[in-house]
Amino acid sequence: MSVATELFDLTGRVILITGASRGIGLAMARACGAHGATVVLNGRDADALGSQVDALAAEGIAAEAEAFDVTDEAAARAALERILSRHGRLWGLIANAGVQHRVPVLDFPTEDFRRVVETNLTACFTLGRDAARHMAEAGGGRIVNTVSMLGPQARPTVPAYIAAKEGLRALTRAMAVELGAKGITVNAVAPGYVATEMNTALIENEQFNDWVVGKTPLGRWADPAELGGAAVYLMADAGSFVSGQILGVDGGMSVQV
Ligand SMILES: NC(=O)c1ccc[n+]([C@@H]2O[C@H](COP(=O)([O-])OP(=O)(O)OC[C@H]3O[C@@H](n4cnc5c(N)ncnc54)[C@H](OP(=O)(O)O)[C@@H]3O)[C@@H](O)[C@H]2O)c1
Repeated sequence: MSVATELFDLTGRVILITGASRGIGLAMARACGAHGATVVLNGRDADALGSQVDALAAEGIAAEAEAFDVTDEAAARAALERILSRHGRLWGLIANAGVQHRVPVLDFPTEDFRRVVETNLTACFTLGRDAARHMAEAGGGRIVNTVSMLGPQARPTVPAYIAAKEGLRALTRAMAVELGAKGITVNAVAPGYVATEMNTALIENEQFNDWVVGKTPLGRWADPAELGGAAVYLMADAGSFVSGQILGVDGGMSVQV
């Protein structure tokens, strides 16, 4: 294998990707799997995961499913134990599962605020901590959180999402500074506007679509597959000295005034 290929080789690395039954998580899983990783796909719908595992297997990717709700700490820990009993080692965690809830602040129900924060932030902490306990014992590992351009920047009607994703940026830094001594890197990927199911209503809204296209220097929505490279980089030897960073994959939108 050439030095260039080795930099991005993930052979023998087991990576758990939450929210991988579709969209960005699935694209990250596919990219890591194509680079040799064994990918464990998570989501709440076991049937949907099973179909995606079959599709990846047909592409020659070693894929497995672990269906659980990331907000169910006990279920997540049990899944982690099963992965460890099958493989003995978890190299990486991509904490990507996330939900959106769009309601103006004045009408935003508390239970929905809590649900979004539990899924998009607290679950990344609980699973990240539990995965890191294993990685620390094993001598190292990689954690990647999926954040957003939203956090440092805000838009109306998504207060819980913005608060949770900004919190996740901070958690990424907090974990990176503490876990570096254990050989664990912790980074985040911040996608721009990606054409996934989460954004179906926005894509179909002509005015919003025009805004995204006009505001993004590359002049279009991202295809989910375009997030795969960032995941591979941060899981591979190529990213071995990168930690505490937020990698924007947003077509330049976050730097445009
Ligand atoms: N799309 C974008 O433009 C964009 C931009 C910035 C950041 N992001 C972030 O990127 C991540 C993925 O977004 P996406 O657009 O790919 O969303 P998506 O197409 O709606 O997919 C979300 C994934 O998360 C899973 N999921 C949701 N709640 C879960 C839970 N409680 N436990 C386990 N799995 C759960 C879903 O599966 P089930 O429903 O079957 O559980 C699905 O696999 C999210 O964190 C999102 O905030 C997206």
